[in-house]
Amino acid sequence: MNESVLPSVLATGQLQSRVQRRGRYVAESMRHPVKMLPSIAAQVISVFTEPGELVVDPMCGIGTTLVEATHLGRHAAGMEYEADFAGLTAANVQHARSQGVTGFARMACGDARNIATVFANLRGTAALVLTSPPYGVRTHGHVRCGSREGGGPVGKSNHRYSKGKGNLAHRPLPLLMEGFGQILAGCGELLRPGGVVAITVRPIRVGGRLVDLPGQVIETAEAAGLVLTHRLAALLCGLRDGRLVPRASFF
Ligand SMILES: C[S@@+](CC[C@H](N)C(=O)[O-])C[C@H]1O[C@@H](n2cnc3c(N)ncnc32)[C@H](O)[C@@H]1O
Repeated sequence: MNESVLPSVLATGQLQSRVQRRGRYVAESMRHPVKMLPSIAAQVISVFTEPGELVVDPMCGIGTTLVEATHLGRHAAGMEYEADFAGLTAANVQHARSQGVTGFARMACGDARNIATVFANLRGTAALVLTSPPYGVRTHGHVRCGSREGGGPVGKSNHRYSKGKGNLAHRPLPLLMEGFGQILAGCGELLRPGGVVAITVRPIRVGGRLVDLPGQVIETAEAAGLVLTHRLAALLCGLRDGRLVPRASFF
């Protein structure tokens, strides 16, 4: 696929998320509350970059962007605030190396609002920045019902970030967006001329009300000096014989 034949809907849910990650990511990766579907990363990287180019993810979580980039022969750089998740990124990158990937990946643990300083030697070199913002305290992580028949108390696990103040997930939405804008501005300094920023984001509910987070992300990105070129839908469901195949999700 390349940009000239880019469809507006990406068939990224043909396989269930756990099947997409099986054997490609270390099992502990499951404890991250909000991961990007590997097929979204792979398709976006394939469309917007060529082998040997650099892909950056300033909020890389378990390293989905880095792993998929290196499997596609691209190089990657990532930042992640949480030491636990940064460790998972390192483990996943190492796992990819053990599988013979040709791309190289580097990463730093810290606050990505400083990314242009941390990766100063990469300024003007990235073909693609691919990332997704945290969904604040609204993540559900893993959910279990209290009884087999349902109706019991709902238990949540793996749904919290650390208490670190630099994690944007702890901020009210306007401040989360402000921090995200600072990160995007820093990433803009890493982009080469003509480079692309791709952000995966979906609407969320706050206090029962639907919030247009994608719209807020677009406004934030434009304020950071970026120009909107595409808005794509990445399917979480599958497509079979012209029909949708639902993938159950607590979301
Ligand atoms: C939606 S998750 C990204 C998941 C990632 N795409 C993946 O597939 O694993 C957002 C991540 O941003 C991280 N984060 C929050 N604030 C940050 C900051 N100031 N600097 C760097 N990372 C941050 C969170 O810890 C979280 O892992």
